[in-house]
Amino acid sequence: MDKRLLIKKALEAREKAYVPYSNFRVGASVLTEDGEIYTGCNIEISSYSPTLCAERTAIFKAISEGHKRIKAVAVVGDSDFTYPCGVCRQVIREFGKDAIIIVANSEKDYKEYRLDELLPHSFGPEDLENKKK
Ligand code: THU
Repeated sequence: MDKRLLIKKALEAREKAYVPYSNFRVGASVLTEDGEIYTGCNIEISSYSPTLCAERTAIFKAISEGHKRIKAVAVVGDSDFTYPCGVCRQVIREFGKDAIIIVANSEKDYKEYRLDELLPHSFGPEDLENKKK
C-alpha cells in the first residue's frame, strides 16, 4: 500500500473543499480492495445538516462505482492531525472492518491506526446477519 500516494491524493482533494461556513478544509482518499483510489472533500450546505465530510464523500464515490470493500482511508484536515468524526468511523466500519486509517498533516508526517483502535467494540453488518430472512 502506497501511503504517501494516498496522502497526496487526499491533499489534492482538500483543494476542492466547499467550506463557505466553517472555512475548515478536509480531503480524503480511499483505497478499495482491488487497488483503486477514490477521493473526496467536505461539502457544506447553508442549512448545515446536509453537510458531508470528506471521508464519506470519498467512500460513497467508491461504493457508488461498484466497490464493496475498502482497505484504507487517508484524511488531511485543517488542524494538527484531523481525525475522522464518529459518523465517518461508522461508515468506514460498514465497508472496511479491518481498514487502516491514515491521519496526516503531510506526506511525511502521518499517523496510522486500525479502524478498531478508533472505533472499538463496534456494531456492524455481521450483527444483523442472523436477522436476515
Ligand atoms: N469534517 C470532515 O470533512 N471530516 C472529518 O472527519 C471532520 C469534520 C468537516 C465537516 C465540516 O465541513 C467541517 O469539517 C467542520 O466540521
